[in-house]
Amino acid sequence: MTVLRTENLSKVYPGSEPVVAVNQVNLSVEKGEHVAIMGASGSGKSTLLHLLGGVDRPTEGQVFIQGIDITSLDETDMAVFRRRNIGIIYQFFNLVPNLTVEKNILLPLLLDGRRPDPSYFQEIVHTLGIEGKLERFPQQLSGGEQQRVAIARSLVTRPAVVLADEPTGNLDRRNTEEIISLFRLVNQRFQTTLLLITHDEKVALSCQRVLVMVDGKLEER
Ligand SMILES: Nc1ncnc2c1ncn2[C@@H]1O[C@H](COP(=O)(O)OP(=O)(O)O)[C@@H](O)[C@H]1O
Ligand SMILES: [Mg+2]
Repeated sequence: MTVLRTENLSKVYPGSEPVVAVNQVNLSVEKGEHVAIMGASGSGKSTLLHLLGGVDRPTEGQVFIQGIDITSLDETDMAVFRRRNIGIIYQFFNLVPNLTVEKNILLPLLLDGRRPDPSYFQEIVHTLGIEGKLERFPQQLSGGEQQRVAIARSLVTRPAVVLADEPTGNLDRRNTEEIISLFRLVNQRFQTTLLLITHDEKVALSCQRVLVMVDGKLEER
């Protein structure tokens, strides 16, 4: 089953010298696939991810997530769609400092007025090994632990797809390896579909598919 698909997706940043950041990208990702996107700095990786996550709008082309053309949604519908269907993991974790770990993880559901499924919640925090940290605040956690919380938060809504921009970019080798194994485990347990941007060859090799961005074009490696 195709979870995510783009059709001639392009993004041009206007200006005196317009930048074609994403150039006619046609991408198709199946359910459960883990896809790594590599490429030089400035090649358009983050822009592509923002388009896929509905954070930014394309100049041309479409993004379909589970068959829905998200580029046709207005701002309000897009915000709701994103909250329900797209999990996002950032390099710098982006946890809310004055909320406990538990509240941080549940936040996407709470913002949507939805009730958490306790057994699924338990399964996620157990899988990520953070069940003992639920009452802590983000600043009481190491970087690796904060990223596990961010992964838990990205999974809590059972999103169609999880997008991650350099999820291990701020972690040391040991924590990077742990996050790699956790992504694998999460993939096995929850059939997560994941697209991640990375500069780390080991992280890329842990994915079933590696794509390379070159001047806005996406190529299979
Ligand atoms: N908001 C913006 N306005 C204008 N140009 C931008 C903007 N964001 C990114 N760019 C340009 O688009 C290109 C791709 O950037 P980006 O997607 O951030 O690449 P990467 O994530 O691969 O480093 C670069 O040339 C960058 O300077
Ligand atoms: Mg980037």
